[in-house]
This record gives sequence, structure tokens and C-alpha cells, in this order.
Amino acid sequence: MKTGCRDAACFCLWRNSLVKNNLIFNRLIFKGKNFKKNMALYQKDDHRSSLLDDIYASPDLGVSMPKYRIPEEEHDPRVAYAAVHDELMLDGNSRQNLATFCQTYLDPEIHKLMDEAADKNMIDKDEYPQTAEIESRCVAMIADLWNSPDAANTIGCSTTGSSEAAMLGGLAMKWKWKAKRQAQGKPTDKPNLICGPVQICWHKFARYFEVELREIPMEHGRLLMTPEEVLKRCDENTIGVVPTLGVTFTLQFEDVKAVCEALDKLQKDTGLDIPIHVDAASGGFVAPFLYKELLWDFRLPRVKSINASGHKHGLSPLGVGWVVWREKQDLPEELIFNVNYLGGNMPTFALNFSRPGGQVIAQYYNFLRLGREGYRRIHQSCLDTGIYLAEEIAKSNLVEMIYDGRGGLPGCCYKLKDGLNTSYNLYDLSEKLRARGWQIASYSLPANAQDIVIQRILVRHGFTHDLANLLLDDMYRSVDFFKAHPVLKQMTREEAGGFNHS
Ligand SMILES: Cc1ncc(COP(=O)(O)O)c(C=O)c1O
Repeated sequence: MKTGCRDAACFCLWRNSLVKNNLIFNRLIFKGKNFKKNMALYQKDDHRSSLLDDIYASPDLGVSMPKYRIPEEEHDPRVAYAAVHDELMLDGNSRQNLATFCQTYLDPEIHKLMDEAADKNMIDKDEYPQTAEIESRCVAMIADLWNSPDAANTIGCSTTGSSEAAMLGGLAMKWKWKAKRQAQGKPTDKPNLICGPVQICWHKFARYFEVELREIPMEHGRLLMTPEEVLKRCDENTIGVVPTLGVTFTLQFEDVKAVCEALDKLQKDTGLDIPIHVDAASGGFVAPFLYKELLWDFRLPRVKSINASGHKHGLSPLGVGWVVWREKQDLPEELIFNVNYLGGNMPTFALNFSRPGGQVIAQYYNFLRLGREGYRRIHQSCLDTGIYLAEEIAKSNLVEMIYDGRGGLPGCCYKLKDGLNTSYNLYDLSEKLRARGWQIASYSLPANAQDIVIQRILVRHGFTHDLANLLLDDMYRSVDFFKAHPVLKQMTREEAGGFNHS
């Protein structure tokens, strides 16, 4: 409808309602003017924007909203909200996103706390001392969870996620190594870091901070770091080794204890003392609850620092990570900056300055709300669902399990069996499942296993047994569909898109 016609229609409806109800002006809001005294009723255009019209009948939503230039005039907040809110309907339904490690279910109380904390700046310890206090309590709780020998007195901080936390952990190792080399009068221009198949944040760290990344490639039959492969790459320029607890590609845990033992022996044999930082982005909030006996944390003296994402299995909203050092002396003094805090100084170590405080507050809420037993029960139920999915999917005889849901993160991953000659590949299957809202990552493994294409399902808080059955039904339906309508040209990774967080 053209704007003029719509205006006329609106006006008629409006006038009819006035006459009918004899409730003059009860549907009007005033912008500081006495409308009743000074205005004639027919001057509707002057007050069109003041009417409490249905927003979807408003002129503003009847035309295209500006997309790439800030508009000259303001919009009614209800209209602007509807425009933004409605556009976001086209985003995927996050609860059905089984590709992400990040939290997509939050208690209503967390929504409330996030709203109440919208104005709190994490860096401003002086203005928000209680938020700062809550952050230090979280650090102490996490250090204790990871068995720091002196949890109450160790050092650590919140970050925006594991990527920032990994950068800080990496920087601390680099500075420690540099100081030692300088003290020995040795060159410091060729630092290297050894890791298994890592998440991209370590590639970033290596490039941004000029460290050679000695990434142990995957091989057929060996998808994780091994002590032997680590030892092959160690030398006097190695700033540290980074095992991953919850490898992004396969959800498995690397064997931190075995790597520690190998490095202990290396030190005995050669004098080289190489520290370990554990990237426990996901596993850091899973292992302490599900695999209490597993030795991966500060119980191993060689583990000097650990990072984890609060917004992954820490069950907090997006935007919080943690890095904790085993003991204060494991974080070089030179990296610490002091900020004002209740008239004194508080040490901080961060790449960002201003940062929202709500996520840290929500993390503290989760610790109080769930306790260790609450975390255990949530992750156990996810783990059980992952195992169930793996078992059911295996029954199809179409796949070979790569991770069957046991001993690592909740979920599973698999590849199509060799020699099946199905018309479809896993990218086609992911794409078909998308039609029902499921987002399931399919991707090829990194070097030297690029020829293996796998599909990974992550099971997170809020993904129930019933939802797993609905997903399985959709998988069977998709496979049946491909049998009836064979795929003529299989999709490629590029065409399938899909984000796998690696
Ligand atoms: C092992 C690992 N490390 C680091 C990261 C980066 O974490 P964040 O997204 O919290 O920055 C991820 C993300 O998936 C990960 O899986």
C-alpha cells in the first residue's frame, strides 16, 4: 500500500475509534504539548509518530530501514526494536546448534543478572569493587578446582574467552623463557611452542607474538599429541608445550600426564626445563566433575598455567574465559599493570581494557547455584546423551566412530565408512539437516589427515535425550531421502559452509 493510502486508512480507523468509544485522546501520548487545548483533531500528521499504532502498520516499518548509513532522524524505540529483533529471526536457533562449544541455555536468573550488570565495566575496579571482588573469588574457586597448591594466593584473571586467555598464558611462557635466556646471556630471537592439533587461537598467538608454532600434525591412526612427538620437537628455544583438554576437532583429551613425564625425563637427561600450559577451553570445566581421577591440572607440577572458557562448559553467557597460574611466580611481574581499586592498586593482566562485567557475575552465580554436584550432573547427563547418540548412529552401519563419547567432552564424531559409495557425503548430510534447523559441523581434519572428513556432534546443557531422538529421526529421514533422490553432485566443504570453531 502506498504511504498516502495507508495514512488515510490509519486516520479513518483512528477517528472511528474516537467516535465509537467516546474516549478522546486515550490512545495518544503527548510529547510535551497540550494537544487537547491547542490542536484540531484533523491535524493528524503532526502527531502520527505519537500514536500508539500497531508498529507493523507504522510508516517506518513500511519502508526499508537504512542499512549502511546512520539515519538522519530517530525512530520510535518499539519500531527500531522490532526491526532489529525481527531481522535476528533469520539467525539459526542456537539450541539446535550442535557445532558450537558455547553456552546456548541460560537460567532466567542469569538473564536477570546480565540485565542488572549491563553498565558494569570489568576494568573499573574502583567504581565496581564488588564486581572486582567477585572476579577474584571466581579465580580462587577455579584455582582450587584445578588443584593449585595455594589456590587462595595464586594469580589469574577473567578474559573475554579462551583465545585471550591462551594469549596471556603464551605470553607468560614467552617472557619467562626470555628472562632465563637473557640471564644466561643467550639469544632470544627464535622462541618456539609445541602443541598438538590446536584451535586457531594458538596460530594467532604464534603469529601476533612472533613465536614459531611446532604443531604436531595428525596422522592416520594418531590424531592426538604423543610424548614421543613432543620430545622430537623440543630444544633450548622451546617456551612451552600446550596439550589440549578437549581437542576442537575430535573432542578428545590429550594425555597431559604422559607429556609431563616425558618432559620430566628430558629435564633429567638434558637439563632442559620446559613448562606446560594446558588449553582446557572446554575440558577445564568438565574433567574436574566427570573425571576426578584424571591427572591433567596443577597436581602435575610441570603444569604452570591453564585456560578455560567460562562460556563453554563453565555454563556462563558468551564473553568470559579464565587463565590461572599455578603459583604467583609463574606470571612474570613485568606483564602486570596496576589499576585503581578502592583507593589502592589492583594487579591486572589483559589484552582488553573496557569489558562487560555481567559474564563474570554470571559465572559466580553458576558456581553458587550449581556447586560441584550441579556441574557434575549436567555434564554427566550430556555425556550420557553423547554416548547414546554415538551408539545409535553406529547402528546405521554407515559410519566409523572416531570418538564414541567416552573419556572426553560430551558428544561424538565419526566418518563415513570407507568403500560405502553413498551418493551423498557428510557435507550433504549436514546441509540436509539444516533444513530442520540442526547445525552439525562436517569438516576435513587438519594436516596430515586432510583426506578424512568427519562430522562432530557436541552435546551441551539443555540438549535432552528427547531432542537427541528427534535429531536421530531427522538423520534417518535424510539418509532415506538420499536413497530415494541420489545426490548427483556432492557438496564441497566450501559450498557447505558451516562453522566448526577450529
Ligand atoms: C581447544 C580450544 N581452545 C581455544 C578455543 C577458543 O576459545 P574462545 O572461543 O573461548 O576464545 C576453543 C574454541 O572452541 C577451543 O576449542
